[in-house]
Amino acid sequence: MSTMNEDITAVLFTEEQIRARTQELGSRISQEYEGKMPVLIGILKGGFMFMADLIRAIDIPLEVDFMAISSYGSGVTSSGAVKIRKDIDVNIEGRHVIVVEDIIDSGLSIRYIRDYLMRHKPASVKVCALLNKPEAHAKELKIDYVGFNVGNEFVVGYGLDYDGLYRNLPYIGILKESIYT
Ligand code: IMP
Ligand code: MG
Repeated sequence: MSTMNEDITAVLFTEEQIRARTQELGSRISQEYEGKMPVLIGILKGGFMFMADLIRAIDIPLEVDFMAISSYGSGVTSSGAVKIRKDIDVNIEGRHVIVVEDIIDSGLSIRYIRDYLMRHKPASVKVCALLNKPEAHAKELKIDYVGFNVGNEFVVGYGLDYDGLYRNLPYIGILKESIYT
C-alpha cells in the first residue's frame, strides 16, 4: 500500500494558495450578493470541501443546500449522461442561486445542473468552480467565478477523487498517469 503522496507527480495548488483564492472569491460574492440572501448549492461529492471553506469566506447571510449527481462513465472521463442522486431541499423559486463545483471539465455536468435548476424558476443562477479546464469544454461555456484554470491533466485532492480516493489530500495535485492507465 503506497502513501497517497507517492501517487502525485506535482502539487498544483497548496493549501495556502487555495485558502487565499477562496478568500478572494468569498469577498467578491459577499459584495455582489449583498442583500440578496443567496442559496449556495454544493455539488457532491467533489465540491464538499471547497463549499465548506467558501461559505466561511462569505460574510453575508446565505443558505446552503447540496445536490448529488453521478455521471456515467468511470475512471477519468465523463460521459455527459448525468443522473440526480440527491435533489435540492430548499425551494429556490425567486432565489439567487450559486452552484459550487469542484471542477469543470467538459462542462456537460454543470450544463445539466444549470438547466435543471432553471426549471425551478430561480431569480438567477451563477456558477462558482474551484477549478476549470477551459480546453476541455465541449461547447462555449461561461463560468462566473473560477478559482484556478488548469490544463487537461487529471487532478486530485481537496475533495477531488480518482476512483473514490485522494479526496482527503489537503492540496491539489496531478495524479501519476500510471495510477489510471
Ligand atoms: P464534466 O461534466 O466533464 O465537466 O465533469 C465534471 C466532473 O468530472 C467533476 O465534477 C469531477 O467530478 C469530474 N472530473 C473532471 N475532471 C476531473 C479531474 O481532473 N479530477 C477529478 N475529477 C474530475
Ligand atoms: Mg464532481
